Amino acid sequence: MSVNKEVRRVTTRTLQEMKNKGEKIAMLTAYDYSMALIVDQSGIDVILVGDSASNVMAGHETTLPITLDQMIYHAASVVRACQRSLVVVDMPFGSYQGNSKEALNSAIRIMKETGGHAIKMEGGEEIVESIKRILTAGIPVMGHLGLTPQSIYKFGTYQVRAKEEAEAERLIHDAKLLAESGCFAIVLEKIPAALAKRVAQEVQVPIIGIGAGSDVDGQVLVLHDMLGITEGFTPRFLRKYLNMGEQMRGALEQYVNDVRSVDFPNDKEQY
Ligand code: KIV
Repeated sequence: MSVNKEVRRVTTRTLQEMKNKGEKIAMLTAYDYSMALIVDQSGIDVILVGDSASNVMAGHETTLPITLDQMIYHAASVVRACQRSLVVVDMPFGSYQGNSKEALNSAIRIMKETGGHAIKMEGGEEIVESIKRILTAGIPVMGHLGLTPQSIYKFGTYQVRAKEEAEAERLIHDAKLLAESGCFAIVLEKIPAALAKRVAQEVQVPIIGIGAGSDVDGQVLVLHDMLGITEGFTPRFLRKYLNMGEQMRGALEQYVNDVRSVDFPNDKEQY
């Protein structure tokens, strides 16, 4: 019996069909080829090459320092690994806020130089002109509202957003506007679950939550956080599926001991 190994690529349309059928969307970040290969093979629907690479891969305190060239390097590595997942690439801080032409040029560079399938941008009404211009070039756009880390110095804290009525109403307004402008999906980060549920009910495109409760159309987490590689990051919304940092440290310490005691390499591990 022959096994059909053909892999069907997830598209923006697949995600809309999933929302319409009430099927949940699973999304994770990845930043390099080796990890993306494993993530893609896990059956994940969307891989986000997040600007969280600035924290996770480069050790910066915020997402602001990462450049467009660096995002392109990470995204191209991820795309080379993926057969099934839809690959979405974050537009980094400073690559789209200037004006819509700059935004379009940045989005075109990402699509051309990485082979990614879509881009993601943080913000609401203030970036609608840029979103529309990028969409005219046929580039799918994912929105991102709530806690938008590129605005951390405006917020002053990484605490839950939109707890107050005025900010919640503004968020609903922005989510509807992003969907009407053509965004194929929207990430909602760290907002009250009841508000996220309302957005997912009132907005037609898929709503992907991170710290936004279970009544949305899908979930996203940062890969290194959920694998337990990141140290000292324990927000309430994070479920750790592995203690990989600890396991890796154990393996590495064993290697150091083996080298020092000349246990490694043994007779079978040499020529
Ligand atoms: O950069 C990122 O990893 C993100 C997710 C947290 C949604 O934007």
